[in-house]
Amino acid sequence: MRISVIGCGYLGAVHAVCMAKLGHDVVGIDIDERKIEALHAGRAVFYEPGLPELLREVLGTGRLKFSSSMSDAKGAQLHFLCVGTPQQEGKYATDMRYVDEAFASLLDSLEPGNVVVGKSTVPVGTAARLADALAERSPDTVLAWNPEFLREGFAVKDTLSPDRFIYGVPDGEPGAWATAALDEVYASALALGTRRLIADYATAELVKVAANSFLATKISFINAMAEVCDVAGADVTVLAEALGMDDRIGRRYLNAGIGFGGGCLPKDIRAFIARADELGAHQALTFLREVDDINVRRRVRVVELTRTLVGGSLLGQRITVLGAAFKPDSDDVRDSPALSIAAQLHLNGAEVTVTDPRATLAAQVRFPELTYEPNLETAMLRADALLLLTEWREYQALTPEFAAGLVRRRNILDGRNVLDLHRWRLAGWNFRAIGRPYDSASTDGRAAPKWVAGKPGK
Ligand code: UGA
Repeated sequence: MRISVIGCGYLGAVHAVCMAKLGHDVVGIDIDERKIEALHAGRAVFYEPGLPELLREVLGTGRLKFSSSMSDAKGAQLHFLCVGTPQQEGKYATDMRYVDEAFASLLDSLEPGNVVVGKSTVPVGTAARLADALAERSPDTVLAWNPEFLREGFAVKDTLSPDRFIYGVPDGEPGAWATAALDEVYASALALGTRRLIADYATAELVKVAANSFLATKISFINAMAEVCDVAGADVTVLAEALGMDDRIGRRYLNAGIGFGGGCLPKDIRAFIARADELGAHQALTFLREVDDINVRRRVRVVELTRTLVGGSLLGQRITVLGAAFKPDSDDVRDSPALSIAAQLHLNGAEVTVTDPRATLAAQVRFPELTYEPNLETAMLRADALLLLTEWREYQALTPEFAAGLVRRRNILDGRNVLDLHRWRLAGWNFRAIGRPYDSASTDGRAAPKWVAGKPGK
């Protein structure tokens, strides 16, 4: 198929590269010329494992081109809208500027028989609105809404072999025609048995925001449990394992810690609240406000825990923050809980050094007032406390003995519950975690629960 991908940010760049990998002829279009130049030269503008290699591979086949001119979309049979939908400044609602502008400028390049496919995460009702505009300007074309569920860090895999396809299409002949075109684009994954669901526009749009809201709710649920564990002296990591053994609940997205961030979950739940409100379903999503509050509260809690960890005052304390990205295997610092905590510690008078294998440059742009040190060992030198806030593999692999040789005082806070609490405490560290017992007498020497990794007791 001949495909255009409008918007070469996270979603669009990965989509364009993966579509070319599947054998289609693709042109990726973006108004940002620097982005286009970089992609053209085989460089991704963000860190995503596996993407640079795949980008260079498909550029070599000649099936992938990039352009900053919308007129180059002409000739494509399908046009994927992949532009960003950020939160409006000072509001919960989505900023639809990029979608509306991209859509409007695409209209001139459309030809009869074309399918316009929305992939961006949008407020419900957007597809119907765009379909009306399309019917007026290009009656021989059709709109489909095909939300994207890729995760940063797994974006290539999630795009090439997703767990489901949702096609939001109109009724009748145009819907059948859009479905057939999308089936052809995704033929290889469908042949391998990937499930596909046909829906109306509104349902397709809702699937995406509902999925992200559910994931956010699951994370905030376990973080709320962590708050209770903290006061009850219980261990949220064991609780999560036990809950996860129930297939109806499932273990994934039950990792308690400093909460969720990134360019999607936080803004998507807020936009969903705003949209439900606009539509008159005022009470339906009030629980998402609580989900958001629980999440934001984690950050405040970590600052307070750090204060306790270092003996009551943050003033002049050298704090090393391990991790700036909102999650590992990403250099994305949008709404990163780690970075937000680092900034708050700095405001409270601590001397904060932030390290991250990939994200220090992006972090520096956002918070230039913090000190950045890409080298892990150097960053840890003479620290009064270590805060593990993004669970990169290298931080999970740290040993208490090695770290003890670098720091000034053996204080550590595990904000992602990934370190072996018993081992660090036995090595003499003052170790705090989220939702895990603090009183060392009640935990040290107690065997880690054996059933966690292996078979149940019976
Ligand atoms: C999320 C969704 O998972 C994707 O399905 C969706 O396509 C994407 O948003 C999007 O809307 O584009 P992503 O933002 O890449 O993907 O991040 P996740 O892997 O979902 O993690 C989000 C945040 O939750 C991270 O800060 C992570 O550290 C945190 N998290 C995740 C937890 O705190 N606990 C968990 O158990 C899981």
